[in-house]
Amino acid sequence: MGPLAVTQLLALISLTVALDNGLLKTPPMGWMAWERFRCDIACKDDPKNCISEGLFRDMADRLSEDGWKELGYEYVIIDDCWMSRLRDKQGRLQPEPSRFPGGIAKLAKYIHDRGLKLGIYADMGTHTCMGYPGTTLDKIDIDAQTFASWGVDYLKFDGCSSNAVEQMLGYPLMSKALNATGRPMAYSCSWPVYVGGLPPNVNYTFLGDICHLWRNYYDIQDSWDSVLSIVEWFSNNQDDLQPAAGPGRWNDPDMEKSHVEVYWRPLSQSASALVFLSRRTDMPYLYHSSLGKLSYDAGNYEAYDVFTGATVTGLNATTEFTVSINPSGVVMWYVYPKKSIQTDEDAQENLKTHMAKTVPRHRIVL
Ligand SMILES: *[C@@H]1O[C@H](CO)[C@@H](O)[C@H](O)[C@H]1NC(C)=O
Ligand SMILES: *[C@@H]1O[C@H](CO)[C@@H](O)[C@H](O)[C@H]1NC(C)=O
Ligand SMILES: *[C@@H]1O[C@H](CO)[C@@H](O)[C@H](O)[C@H]1NC(C)=O
Repeated sequence: MGPLAVTQLLALISLTVALDNGLLKTPPMGWMAWERFRCDIACKDDPKNCISEGLFRDMADRLSEDGWKELGYEYVIIDDCWMSRLRDKQGRLQPEPSRFPGGIAKLAKYIHDRGLKLGIYADMGTHTCMGYPGTTLDKIDIDAQTFASWGVDYLKFDGCSSNAVEQMLGYPLMSKALNATGRPMAYSCSWPVYVGGLPPNVNYTFLGDICHLWRNYYDIQDSWDSVLSIVEWFSNNQDDLQPAAGPGRWNDPDMEKSHVEVYWRPLSQSASALVFLSRRTDMPYLYHSSLGKLSYDAGNYEAYDVFTGATVTGLNATTEFTVSINPSGVVMWYVYPKKSIQTDEDAQENLKTHMAKTVPRHRIVL
């Protein structure tokens, strides 16, 4: 691209309207596919976990049938590796037909029919991080239109295989292109991390004008970026969001010097989710607390560790416990009153089995 073209595009960007379409007044909540799982395309060998329409339909079923939706968990987000290696004859992105035979529009309808929203992934650059077709500057409009035509509600726009100039042009242009489709879509920008993540390279004021959320600046593992950015967004906006946050309440009992944060959310049947997040990057952190300190009422509880499948028994409000959280890691507990396992044992067991089956280790629930 010549200098003139760059100048012209920059002039265009200065006219970019803010992507202020009223979305994400509360933080996005939902399910995302993760790491190994994220680019598992071996549907023959691993049909349950591979990136395919069945997987995302399953996610939607779980969100809508297990009580998560009522709490505001609404986004089902497809990450990298959903695409065909080739664009179609009109130059549009298309899903890999063997894994998404019904197409994305049909999947979007399935998800919308359950009162949920669909997120999708694209990459500002020649290729996605996993080597699928990227969205170069000349493809921004057509890709935004394609996503809108499918009924997509959220775009994660990654930044592999592009340079700083292309990113400076591309991220605002995509914002404008999404707006121009007329379909309100949330826009998650991975831009900051590709330019060092800190001012002056990143102008967070500008970013806030064009994106709904963004990948934060920590030097972290690839697999962790989005979750941390969402949580970052949570914690930065928590004072504003708390009054608005869904049925139930957001409780942030702890914001420790240890860089461990704890999030709490009520679930059905008197259960709740406790999420321990560590922002440390050096070593696993041993977090000591008790349910009472985290605002739980007196009583006996058990906790089911969603990722390891371990059950923590014998908890009451004063029982001191220690959670080991890996650097940039998360521990998620499904906490339920001990009483209810006796009165409603089958339901609890069902849910645990359910979760053990449907929550692969690398999938993150927020
Ligand atoms: C487009 O931007 C304008 C101005 O910020 C906003 O009022 C409108 O809701 C946006 N529309 C969509 C579809 O994003
Ligand atoms: C950052 O962006 C805002 C909004 O576009 C702009 O007003 C401001 O001048 C920018 N700051 C710097 C240091 O460039
Ligand atoms: C709570 O559990 C602790 C052991 O973790 C026990 O020492 C204590 O007596 C229990 N308190 C109540 C009220 O049951």
